[in-house]
Amino acid sequence: MATLIIYTSRHGTTQKIAALLSQELKNQPADMVDLRKAKLPDLKDYDQVILGGSIHIGQIQRKLKHFCKNHEAELLTKRLGLYLCFMLEDKAKEEFHNAYSESLRVHATALGMFGGEFLFEKMNTLEQMIMRKATHETESVYNIHEEAVDTFISKMNG
Ligand SMILES: Cc1cc2nc3c(=O)[nH]c(=O)nc-3n(C[C@H](O)[C@H](O)[C@H](O)COP(=O)(O)O)c2cc1C
Repeated sequence: MATLIIYTSRHGTTQKIAALLSQELKNQPADMVDLRKAKLPDLKDYDQVILGGSIHIGQIQRKLKHFCKNHEAELLTKRLGLYLCFMLEDKAKEEFHNAYSESLRVHATALGMFGGEFLFEKMNTLEQMIMRKATHETESVYNIHEEAVDTFISKMNG
């Protein structure tokens, strides 16, 4: 089964998870495409599609949101996985629901709420200021939910 992983990532966490999924899925490696950078391949060539994005200031990347909207009908014909990186645990469910439409969520084989990372060394000065104010953290924080990633992989491989 040919798999395409489409992701958007600001500081690399969503991309890192895309690379991991690409290695762990059956019939690997899956093709990976960064929605912000690369030309999108033809979805017709894939049976299985995984979408991954991350939350910044309450929203998933606009490009991914537009992609989901514009390709929803075709995505509903694929075996589908949806995942999200975030850091605010109490908002995660709401952020996931805002990121992916109900039709996509209901159709998907696996939904992944993977947590994330605050990578201070990759943030620009403004981002660092926002983060310090919002979280009172001054150093990088790593909080990827590895169990959730494993469960997602098992479901996709099931
Ligand atoms: C400027 C900034 C704003 C963020 N805003 C949110 C937010 O509103 N809600 C949330 O859950 N996480 C937020 N995060 C955390 C990111 O979702 C987290 O760092 C994630 O791992 C980023 O993945 P990426 O590097 O693939 O983009 C924010 C991170 C940054 C740097």
